Formats: sequence, structure tokens, C-alpha cells
Amino acid sequence: MPRFYITTAIDYANGSPHLGHAYEKVLTDVIARFRRLLGDEVFFLTGLDEHGQKVQQSARARGIAPQQFVDEIAGEFRALCAKLEISHDDFIRTTEPRHKQVVRDLLQRLYDQGEIYQADYRGFYSTRQEQFLQEKDRNPDGTWPEIYGEVTEIIETNYFFKLRAYQDWLIDFLKQNEDFVFPRYRQKQVLEFLAEPLNDLCISRPRERLEWGIPLPFDEKFVTFVWFDALLNYYSAVADKPGTWPATYHVIGKDILVPPHAVYWPIMLKAVGIAPPRSLLVHGWWSINGAKMSKSTGNFVDPIAFVDQFGADALRYFLIREMSVGQDSDFSQQQFLARYNAELANNLGNLVNRVLNMTGRFAGGAVPAAESSGDAETELRTLWEKTRTEALALGEGFQFHLMLERAMTFVTATNAYVEKRAPWKLGKSTTPADQALLRTSLATIAEALRLAVTLFAPVMPATTDKVRALLGVTPSGSWREQLEWGASLTGAKLGAAAILFPKPEKPAG
Ligand code: MSP
Repeated sequence: MPRFYITTAIDYANGSPHLGHAYEKVLTDVIARFRRLLGDEVFFLTGLDEHGQKVQQSARARGIAPQQFVDEIAGEFRALCAKLEISHDDFIRTTEPRHKQVVRDLLQRLYDQGEIYQADYRGFYSTRQEQFLQEKDRNPDGTWPEIYGEVTEIIETNYFFKLRAYQDWLIDFLKQNEDFVFPRYRQKQVLEFLAEPLNDLCISRPRERLEWGIPLPFDEKFVTFVWFDALLNYYSAVADKPGTWPATYHVIGKDILVPPHAVYWPIMLKAVGIAPPRSLLVHGWWSINGAKMSKSTGNFVDPIAFVDQFGADALRYFLIREMSVGQDSDFSQQQFLARYNAELANNLGNLVNRVLNMTGRFAGGAVPAAESSGDAETELRTLWEKTRTEALALGEGFQFHLMLERAMTFVTATNAYVEKRAPWKLGKSTTPADQALLRTSLATIAEALRLAVTLFAPVMPATTDKVRALLGVTPSGSWREQLEWGASLTGAKLGAAAILFPKPEKPAG
């Protein structure tokens, strides 16, 4: 069985989860479920980045110890994962002993190998970003961009990692591995960044300035720079699971590609003698109502409120349907409701109702066998063959928005087929030909519904389970086999009518 190790970024534990965090988890979950369904042995990791200045500051602002603070935040992030039906195999926290031990061991190895040295550092420091800045980071008028917050000039003795020594190696590596970053155009951005000489990386912070971190094993007066600590989570979580490393995909947002994931991370691994990850999958950012998401201005979406009102599947569907992986997208309640009503309630929900109601009315609630096959049946079946082939290929290429679009088009075509055959009219006729066509149409729509929800499984697992239960289906065989048109529903006793996607009374906040 092919192994597939996939991770999300680990979120900063300095605040509550937001829509961006929810999206990344859902996207990674969809990939994990998709690969499992295709037969891969998946290991899916997510977690929290719990050290560093921002966490220390947030805990101080609340007047509680950092550990208590991150324990609370970890509870919120775990609850978000449960709400969103995230199927992760592990949730790592960088304050766990298993992680700290690996960080210290690897730092010691790098130190012993001469990859880390001590030097004085004088420079402009941004507390908000926890990083020293360079001249090129200034605005044209000499001021510092707002994202850096307060910037002060400081001199510090610190430890440095020899990043620069690996610059040529990394350039060669990227040229030989053109698919290291998905989408490909983002790999170009990495090479552009590498066109300028790299500086060695300052990997320590004096403890008098920052307490909340992993002490360096060779000098306990310092703690580890939070990125150096955090990036190692991907490896520390599976260090005791032979055969899992290297990761197949690290799923991250575009803001943390360069330099952390595409420069520091492969070089850290190379220097310590561990294989690099196979690829980085870089998604775009969500804005809200056309503007940057921000809690302070109130331009903020609480993913939990949406799940509570519409269910996890509805939010999962919207996020995956709306965003093309790699591009940015906008979230608005209006657009969410438009898709919810048109695609989930009126299209898919309607088909479910029709299958249940009409099978109940005209066939005593049991799916009849298909008898005759006319043009309309052949057309629908041909569309399904095309939908299945295209949808699987699109999913393998991370084009899940198009995979869903194809699946929904098939649902629309099935509803159109219902209109065309009009079982309610056939039901009134007593001719044997009409009766045979009635049975055929009921069998056809039940099978079409089964196939559609089987295809939706990676994105809307609960809906798939619910509809399968209503159809009396116990899936067997591989997913690819389950996606083949067949007659497994013949004789199945269907459940009572159910409303899968109820019309909202008032919108979520
Ligand atoms: N802790 C670091 C990552 C360390 S990984 C070794 C971090 N945390 S974060 O909480 O700021 O962001 C976590 C992930 O959420 C990142 O991949 C980031 O791109 C993503 N998102 C944060 N805001 C986002 C949007 N508005 N939209 C989509 N994703 C966004 O960076």
C-alpha cells in the first residue's frame, strides 16, 4: 500500500481558530480522505505551534502562565477539528516532551557537526514578527511596514545556523525537483528569493528576552527560535514511526512558503542528514467580504458558528467548492447562502427527497430493478462515466473545486432526468411499457444518487453516510469499484424522507 504522509501547518497558539485555520484543515482532510479512498496508507498530522514571543505576550495579557494559556487554546483547536470532522491521525503540540526531545537532539547534532556557531548580532528587531529585519524590509520612505509593529535596534549574542552554506545545494535541488512546490508557479518565487545571497539564520533567543521556548541543549541561557522549533514538528511527530518520513505533502498558506518552508526547512533537514519532504502544497488566502480578515475590525467569520447552523459538510463543501487551491478567495455570507441554497438544498437535497418520496409512492419503498434502457438512461449513464473519470483525475491534481463542480453537474442532470421521465405521470399509466419505464426510472435515480454521494465522500463524509443509510447501502469493494454504475440497490428498502440541508431561518454571524 503506498504511504501518504500529509500535514497542515501548525497554528500559532496565541488566539482562537479562524476561517483560515479551518480551511487549511478541511483542505488537508479532503486530500487525506481522497487518498485513503484510493487505497493509500495515510498518516495525517495537524497540531499547534505553542512557543515564542506572541504566545508569551498573549498569556501575560491574560495574567496566566503560558502553559495554561496554550492548554486552553489547544482545547479550542481540538474542538474545531472535531466539529469539522477532521480525520487526523495525530495532533502534535510543540510543548510536548516528545517534540522537545527531538528538537534538542537535532540541535545537538547540528552543533556537534559544526553547523551552528555563536556570533554577535546587531540589527533591527521586530517583536511582533519575532525576527531581525533587513534594510530591504523598509518602506521606500525609510519607515518599517506596519506588519512589523514596533521595531528597535538591538545587539545580541546569539547562535546561528549555517544556512548560506546550503544555498547552492537548495537551488540545484529545486531545479531537479520541479514539482517540489505546488502550484508550480510558486516554486519560481522560491528561486527568485534565492537569487539574492542568504544570511545565516539566527536560531536562538536569549532567555532574558524570551522565556517561553525550548532551551538550546548546548547553552541553556538561550531558547530556540520559534520557527526552528515549529518546523521540526513534522519530523518529531513521526520520529518513532519507521517508514513514515518523508512527508508526501506539507499543506501551508502562501505566507509561510518563503523563507520558512521552502528555504529553512529543506536546508535544516539536509544539514542534519534527513531526507527532504517530497512536496509543499501552497494554498491562497481567504478574505472576508473583500477585506482582510481581522478580529479587531469585526471582519471575522467564526467557523464554529457556521458549522453549528449549517453542519460541517455545508462549510466543508463551500470552502472546497469556492477556492481553487493556490488562488485567493473571498468569503461572504451571501455567497455561502447562494451555494448552500442552490447546490446543497435545492439540487442535492431535492434529489434525495425525490428518490425517497417516489420510491415510497410508486414502489412500496423498495428500489425496483431497471428493465428497459432508453436514450435518457444511456445519456445519464454516459455522463456519469465521464464525471467519474474527470472527477478522479481532478482530485488527484488537487482541483477539488472542479471535482465538486462535475459532481454537482451530474446531480443537476439527474434532476433533469427525473423531470424528463416524470415518474408521477408514469405512475398514473397502467400500460406495461410505462410501468417498466417507471421501475427503470426509479432504479436509475437511486443509482445516480448513490454514485453522486459516493463521489462526495472526501468532502461531505457525513452526507455520504446519511444518504447511504437512507439507501440501505453498505459499501463494499474499493472506492473506484463503488463508483461504478451497477445494480447493487435492486431490492433495497429505503429510509423515510429526510431533509439533509434545511433552509436557514436566519444567517450565522
Ligand atoms: N505557526 C505558524 C506555522 C508553523 S508551521 C511549522 C503559522 N501559524 S498561523 O496560525 O499564523 O497560520 C497557520 C496556517 O493558517 C498557515 O498556513 C496560514 O497560511 C493559514 N492561514 C492564516 N490565515 C489565513 C487566511 N486568511 N486564509 C487562508 N489561510 C490562512 O503561520
